[in-house]
Amino acid sequence: MDELLAKALVVVTGKGGVGKTTVAAALGLAAARRGLRTILAEVAARDDLSRALGGSGAHEDELAGGLHHISIDPQAAMEEYLGDQLPSRTMADLLASSSIFTYFAAATPGLRELLTVGKVWELAQDTRRTPGGRPYDLVVLDAPATGHGVAVLTAPRTVAETARVGRIARQARTIDEMLSDPARTGVVAVARPEEMPVNETLALERSLRERVGLPVDLVVANGLLPGRFTASEERAVAGLDAGHAPVAAALAAHARHRTQQAQLARLRRRVAAPVVTLPFVFEPELGVQALTALSRMLEGGAP
Ligand SMILES: Nc1ncnc2c1ncn2[C@@H]1O[C@H](COP(=O)(O)OP(=O)(O)OP(=O)(O)O)[C@@H](O)[C@H]1O
Ligand SMILES: [Mg+2]
Repeated sequence: MDELLAKALVVVTGKGGVGKTTVAAALGLAAARRGLRTILAEVAARDDLSRALGGSGAHEDELAGGLHHISIDPQAAMEEYLGDQLPSRTMADLLASSSIFTYFAAATPGLRELLTVGKVWELAQDTRRTPGGRPYDLVVLDAPATGHGVAVLTAPRTVAETARVGRIARQARTIDEMLSDPARTGVVAVARPEEMPVNETLALERSLRERVGLPVDLVVANGLLPGRFTASEERAVAGLDAGHAPVAAALAAHARHRTQQAQLARLRRRVAAPVVTLPFVFEPELGVQALTALSRMLEGGAP
């Protein structure tokens, strides 16, 4: 965990709904507890972190001691970028108008991701471009679940290769340099211990290594269900009447636990990164208390 939190940027990836936002928040809490000035960055229009932890959105605001939050809107990131690059404010405003943005974003593969990750890169710099912006020790990116989950990490390289020359290509290369440097950028892959998510995690590890040259630093197997029976209890229960509803429910729950354990074992065998597990928390919504408990488990379980 020390090594992971010593990086400038930790990208939390994984398929939709596996627990990326939850794990990003837990990591942020763990980092802040260690005294690191930390910012959780998520891509706008979601604001999942704000809802769980009480942030307000597009500005860098402090949620709790040392933990900050920002919601990055690709269009706002483009306006900021253009305002920075163009001599005239009017020209920047014009170019950033939403129809032009929509047009460019649709026509340029990777642009939306580049703008998002460009802002993340800016947050992770020792010298901030944002006027009055203070540097952070750590940026935790709650990455959007797109494609193979690496779109955000590969976008700068894709754009640099497409544009090849010019200012955008140069800037994309600078961003890519940071993202593909394992000393500065860490990757946490979140998975549910189920067949497809495990396969996707293995594919993610492979494609990150091949396309960005980055290892996965940590795999979080999230949402582990408790077992209901010991082995001998299971044998005893197997002889009971499964038509009896409580018995059937307990057997089904135990079967889900067994399936998860088998997938977890497969994940551990096949993935190169260390695997840490988080239990399924039986609460209607995960608030600060539950997230803090999960952050302590992450710290306890990670190497
Ligand atoms: N360990 C857990 N125990 C119980 N509920 C969990 C756990 N992890 C996540 N959840 C819940 O599952 C739902 C999805 O989790 P989360 O929002 O973190 O996933 P995500 O990967 O960020 O999803 P998305 O791809 O939609 O952004 C949320 O309601 C969250 O509270
Ligand atoms: Mg999320």
